Amino acid sequence: MQRTLITAALPYANGYIHLGHCAGAYLPADMYARYLRLRGHPTLFVCGSDEHGAPITIAAEQEGISPRELIERYHRANAEAFARLGISFDIYGRTSDPHHYAVAQGFFLELLRKGYLVEREEEQFYDPVAQIFLPDRYVEGTCPNCGYEAARGDQCERCGAYYNQLELRNPRSRITGKPPVVRRTVHWYFRLSAFQHALEEYVERHSRDWKENVLQQTRSWLRQGLTDRPITRDLDWGVPVPLPNAAGKVLYVWFEALLGYISITQRWAQQRGAPEAWQPWWTDPETRYIAFIGKDNIVFHTLMFPAMLMAHGGYILPDNVPANEFLNLEGQKFSKSRNWSIDVRDFLADFPEPHAVDALRYTLAANLPETRDADFTWQEFAARTNNELVAILGNFVNRVLQFVQRHWGGRVPEFAPVELLQEWERCAEAVWEGASPELSSEWTAEERLFLQELLQGSVHIAQAYEQFRFREAVARTMGLARAANKFFNDTAPWVTLQQAPEQCARTLFVCLQAVRSFAVLCAPIVPFAAERLYGLLRLPPQVGAPSDGMPGEDLWRSAVSPRLPVGHQLAAPQLLFARIDAERIERQRVKLYGGAAPMNASDALATVEDLQKLGLRIGYIVHAEPIAGTEKLLRLEVDLGTERRQLVAGIAQRYAPEQLLGRAVVVATKLKPARIRGVESQGMLLAATAPDGTPVLLTPEEQVPAGAEVR
Ligand code: 2FM
Ligand code: ZN
Repeated sequence: MQRTLITAALPYANGYIHLGHCAGAYLPADMYARYLRLRGHPTLFVCGSDEHGAPITIAAEQEGISPRELIERYHRANAEAFARLGISFDIYGRTSDPHHYAVAQGFFLELLRKGYLVEREEEQFYDPVAQIFLPDRYVEGTCPNCGYEAARGDQCERCGAYYNQLELRNPRSRITGKPPVVRRTVHWYFRLSAFQHALEEYVERHSRDWKENVLQQTRSWLRQGLTDRPITRDLDWGVPVPLPNAAGKVLYVWFEALLGYISITQRWAQQRGAPEAWQPWWTDPETRYIAFIGKDNIVFHTLMFPAMLMAHGGYILPDNVPANEFLNLEGQKFSKSRNWSIDVRDFLADFPEPHAVDALRYTLAANLPETRDADFTWQEFAARTNNELVAILGNFVNRVLQFVQRHWGGRVPEFAPVELLQEWERCAEAVWEGASPELSSEWTAEERLFLQELLQGSVHIAQAYEQFRFREAVARTMGLARAANKFFNDTAPWVTLQQAPEQCARTLFVCLQAVRSFAVLCAPIVPFAAERLYGLLRLPPQVGAPSDGMPGEDLWRSAVSPRLPVGHQLAAPQLLFARIDAERIERQRVKLYGGAAPMNASDALATVEDLQKLGLRIGYIVHAEPIAGTEKLLRLEVDLGTERRQLVAGIAQRYAPEQLLGRAVVVATKLKPARIRGVESQGMLLAATAPDGTPVLLTPEEQVPAGAEVR
């Protein structure tokens, strides 16, 4: 059976993992790994901390500690955060591991021997006060490409351009803030240009299976022509260049971190007492290698790493690099420096209950930035938890288990006629051969409808995982839970219990099998809930946990077959999920908004004049009507004392037109008019946002005349 190696970008051990990292790479990689293991595929999921480079040394300097202290803190914290989030790495290693040093140095020497590294004397920025060279992030300046003023020496964070640091305009040292001087220094360059053609072929071989964003970025680099890249740096923290004439030089962090995937896999093999066991994962052409990353790491994985592997020889290349776009937080980019972030460890401290981890995974998974940037909001977290996990999936499981507990003492009821079970089994097999299941007329219409959906659904979800469409997998999984609730409602077992007890037993039998199906199908998304579900069913949990790279049974393929035997005793029902109440969400929002630094310290702040510019006044609503074809919009006429204005307001979810007549509201009167759905809005109503996201109008506490100024 095909072996799959999965890696997820090695996160820098210079800060705590936040939700953006999770949605970018770690959660989809974990869902994929769990899915494959549930299919019984030999799967190895490798990750670890990236512990070198300017990102580490600068963070250590800023905190006033040594790089080693820094990486110890964050490596440990991040390993724990990943574990508690259920990210099922086979190993979470680290690049400060001496074994990694040996591997990276060996690789360097092999490339040197093969003639792919060349020594060159080059000009570099040097800080004459601190007396050190300024690699990468040690120098800042204006981006030569887009003009961003805080661009780093190796890459512009705003436009993504990579350039030679000497191209930066107005460079300044991050250590002393002074302009650097230019000095000559020796470095080893990797002859990336030698792989232009081979990489073009490699990328085009994948033109059908790689994501559009990955192809586009990679092709654009190839079009510009690949240039040779220095892979050493003048720094004292890192993997030393293994040559006698290279004192004070280390391997460039990207060069060695990528090799971390290999050295950490070797560590895994050593730890299980079979030091050679890493080999098939990296050298057997039959192994598929999938590298999960965020979009800022694309070309390192589609060009640089493959070229390094080709240069060395004997290694397989990534088959796919399913890079995600970015996750934003309540509409803005994650930013540690502005305190605009939710670290996994803070989340876990505030939501320690196990179902909250599942709720977080579910919310992120349902809204992954797969094809475009996505947004995490606390409100969505609550809504997805309460309206989907609790109200749909949890509700179905609970009503079924309660019903069986009450009426059959928690034992799986009879199913008759038993021959139909064979038909069910046959159809469950046939869907994997591409057939559409057609259940015979021995089944009731509701049973046919539901079982067909369930059978087909398990295949469609599998296809979605295989094609890296994780959002779709999640939506389809919840869609099946919706169908299951509908089945329960439509068959009304509380009615058939008296009138047709055999049919009632049959309904609950089907429902219980579906509950077991959900234990399997949900495991990649909400593994802790799936584990609890197995417990409620008194079955050994199988949630796609690490399997030491070994093949196993294809559980997924029989996920929707009837596998719970009649008479099987279930555990006492317990709720699978719990609601997240509005108050907790509000506390998180206050924490986030209260703790955040303004966007750009001073210039993002408004002045009193800015506020006056809005022309805030009290108006009285004298007319209100819905705008045809919309759900949220109302057309209002407002009396401002001296004039009447027409406004379009998105408040129809909360207010009926007749409730609004005569009401005083706050109006921004000096806004540019806007056309909304063809209706001109000559200003704007102010409203507060309720925890459920709907607007609540602001009304003065006492009667004030129309047109009164609001300040
Ligand atoms: O962007 C990052 O966090 C890098 N540390 C990713 C490295 S991926 C690979 F090289 F290990
Ligand atoms: Zn730029």
